[in-house]
Amino acid sequence: MAEYVGALDQGTTSTRFVVFDREGHIVSVAQKEHRQIYPQPGFVEHDPEEIFSRSVEVMREALEKGGINPQQLKAIGITNQRETTILWDKKTGKPVHNAIVWQDTRTAEICEKLAGDEGIYRFQQKTGLPLATYFSGPKIRWLFDHIPGLFERAKKKEIAFGTIDSWLVYKLTGCHVTDVTNASRTLLFDIRRLCWDEEMCEVLGIPMEILPEVVDSSHPEAYGKLSREILGESIPVTAVLGDQQAALFGQTCYEVGEAKNTYGTGCFLLVNIGEKVVFSTRGILTTVGYRIHGENAVYAMEGSVAIAGALIQWARDKLGLIEKAPQIDELAMKVEDSGGIYIVPAFSGLFAPYWRSDARGVVVGLTHYTNRYHLARAILEATAYQTREIFDAMMEDAHINLKELRVDGGMVVSEPLMQFQSDILGIDVVRPRVTETTALGAAYAAGLAIKYWQDKKELRSHWQIEKRWQPRLDAATREALYRGWKKAVTRTFNWVE
Ligand SMILES: Nc1ncnc2c1ncn2[C@@H]1O[C@H](COP(=O)(O)OP(=O)(O)OP(=O)(O)O)[C@@H](O)[C@H]1O
Ligand SMILES: [Mg+2]
Repeated sequence: MAEYVGALDQGTTSTRFVVFDREGHIVSVAQKEHRQIYPQPGFVEHDPEEIFSRSVEVMREALEKGGINPQQLKAIGITNQRETTILWDKKTGKPVHNAIVWQDTRTAEICEKLAGDEGIYRFQQKTGLPLATYFSGPKIRWLFDHIPGLFERAKKKEIAFGTIDSWLVYKLTGCHVTDVTNASRTLLFDIRRLCWDEEMCEVLGIPMEILPEVVDSSHPEAYGKLSREILGESIPVTAVLGDQQAALFGQTCYEVGEAKNTYGTGCFLLVNIGEKVVFSTRGILTTVGYRIHGENAVYAMEGSVAIAGALIQWARDKLGLIEKAPQIDELAMKVEDSGGIYIVPAFSGLFAPYWRSDARGVVVGLTHYTNRYHLARAILEATAYQTREIFDAMMEDAHINLKELRVDGGMVVSEPLMQFQSDILGIDVVRPRVTETTALGAAYAAGLAIKYWQDKKELRSHWQIEKRWQPRLDAATREALYRGWKKAVTRTFNWVE
């Protein structure tokens, strides 16, 4: 009977379960979307119970589709949308509120107050992060500020906090734990000492009683085993990684200076910086990359873009410009360029390198000449320009000089985007054979923990290039286009007062 490793990828828009074989090939996959709840402008929520249900459903469906017996699954890895915050009642297991999603900007005021005169980088040396609405800590604070009696219940140890990984592990195995990569996105975690930080909890007014135990990303026992009612077998959960760190691991970026860019709902460029932390002066985050049981933690620098594929979904669901995502490519390919327009999708403010919660989206440069094809192209180009910004900042901060960019995620099927990405960066863009690298990374980490795979060298041997794009624009045109983008970005600032 063939043996496999499974990965549960709980993303912002959908949940997938992917079964991999020993060569890192996909054997079976199932995927389901969940509701995006927008109670008011700037608020984004998910229903934690729905997320758990979808997770169980895709696990069962993937096994059924692939004709796989649960006994064939040797281990499961979990990877997840990061920072999204859930508090639940320890006795009943019921959430006290919807999950507050990473894109949600309701904590702008909390963050501003915390930054005070010292500014958003006040806690960077400890947490690796700027004070921004993106991260979990302020979201927890908001819940305590808005749910009567919650703080008292927390002090009595009746309440648990978790990011999505913790929530799912708790529901699947009963353990209340999180991994170092997810912990490093809360603003409550000391990334050097690799533990919850008392001072940060104090500053944010968060009782430490609610926090999960922090463990290695890949560990043979720390996450427990699936309770039998899930799949009928008690399969061990042996890895947890935030989705972007999982993609770094799945792209086998195990050496210092190796990097990947993932194009999903948002867009996230991560580079491996090894076992020592380096801090950015240009809005790039320092974060835990992964920690394998028995090894030191490996760090990464990260450029985070909030809106990438989400802009395509917005064009589909809110604008009605297209009915299905791939149609954006058909429209965009009808024109040579965007006709001088730019779209800056600052829907959740701007993340890296700006960290401006006062920014909101703009379309600039409109004339009588502009048509829907230009608009489609500008929508795709927005992701490439945002990548250029974080790419430039990161190259300087991490003192590296990438000669090519490894890409993955749902948007990398877009020909016009990949070509323009190469054009605007002026370097090659390479797509691997497996673009489900988020799930792959979680499976790799889970498989390593039980020696399904022996070591990282074996994992590296699976990586294969599928397609390469080379820059076609001359340097002068490239830089002129990019200057236009930079100007467009300044038009988003100070919109929210
Ligand atoms: N042909 C296409 N051209 C451009 N974008 C596309 C195309 N097909 C899909 N996308 C975009 O890719 C995104 C989906 O990517 P992916 O599946 O990696 O996201 P995801 O993993 O669900 O994201 P998250 O984990 O953040 O939920 C969607 O936002 C979609 O709009
Ligand atoms: Mg994803």
